[in-house]
Amino acid sequence: TMGLFSSFAVILIVNLTICHGWLLGSKSHPWDGLKVTWGINPFSSSSFVNMPRTESEAKSSGFTMISGCGHANFLGKRYMKNNDPAVILIYDVNGYIAGIQAGLPTTLSNGYPPANLKNQPLVQDGDKFYMTAYFVSPDSICTHGRTAGQFSSQGTGTDLYIQNSTDPMASIRIPHQESAIGSTAWVKGHCFPAMGVHYWYAATLDMSCDNFFPVFLLYNGGVLNAFGWAFQADLSSSRFEHPTTSSFAAFMNPVPQCLYNAGKLSTLHIYLNGNPQTDLICN
Ligand SMILES: *[C@@H]1O[C@H](CO)[C@@H](O)[C@H](O)[C@H]1NC(C)=O
Repeated sequence: TMGLFSSFAVILIVNLTICHGWLLGSKSHPWDGLKVTWGINPFSSSSFVNMPRTESEAKSSGFTMISGCGHANFLGKRYMKNNDPAVILIYDVNGYIAGIQAGLPTTLSNGYPPANLKNQPLVQDGDKFYMTAYFVSPDSICTHGRTAGQFSSQGTGTDLYIQNSTDPMASIRIPHQESAIGSTAWVKGHCFPAMGVHYWYAATLDMSCDNFFPVFLLYNGGVLNAFGWAFQADLSSSRFEHPTTSSFAAFMNPVPQCLYNAGKLSTLHIYLNGNPQTDLICN
C-alpha cells in the first residue's frame, strides 16, 4: 500500500503542476467523457484512455459492430476493437453512447465465474461471459435512443444501470448521489486519488468469493462519476489492471479475506467524466 501511495504522490505533484485547470474543491463532476483503465502514470497512452461516445467515432477509431439492437440478452449496438472483448462499447439506435461491457472467456482455467455469478451478473452468450452496464434508461436504448440535444446536455448518460440477469430491462439503477447509497447493500471502502470513494456490493470480511459481486462504484464529491469491474481471473488484455494483494486495503474496508487466495485479479476503472486524472481531492 505504501509503495502505491508514494508512487502516486510523485505523479500527483507532477500532475498538479501541469494541470492548470485544477480547482480546489468545487468540481461539478459532469458526465462529459468516457475513459477506461486507471494507471499510475496519467500521461501513459495506456491509462485513462478516451473511448468514442458516438457510433461514427467508434467506426473511425477501429471498432466494429458485433451485434445490433435485437439481441435477446443485451441492448444496443455493440462494438469491439481488435477482437478484444475487455472493452465492448454499446450505442443506442441513434448512435449515442449507451453502455459498456466486458467479455470473459468461458474456458478460464480457474473455473471463473463461480455458479453464483453465472447470469447474475455474468451473462453467458456463445463462448463468453459478459458483464454489462448501461448509462441511460434501458427501455430507451433500442426504441427511441437519444437526440443530439440530449446527448449534448446529458453527456455520457443519465444514470448507471448494472445488468444482473439475462434480462437487460431489469438492470439495477445505481444511486447518482452517494447520500442515497446508505440504504443499499453497497459497502463503503476507501477513497483513492483519481479514482474516488469505492463501494463494494455486500462485501464482508469472511464472505465467500463465490459471492463477490465483480463491480465497484466510485463517488467523487458525493456524486457517482466512475465505476469498474473486478474479476477473479487473470485476463490478458492490456486494458485490465492487476492490483496486488498489498493494495487491496487501499480500496476496500473490510477486505474480504478470500480475495487474498483468489489469484491474480483483473480490474477495470471506467470513468464517465473527461478529466478523472485531476480528481485528486479525495472525498
Ligand atoms: C444480483 O442478483 C442476485 C440474484 O438475484 C442477487 O442476489 C444480488 O443481490 C444482485 N446484485 C445486486 C448488486 O443487486
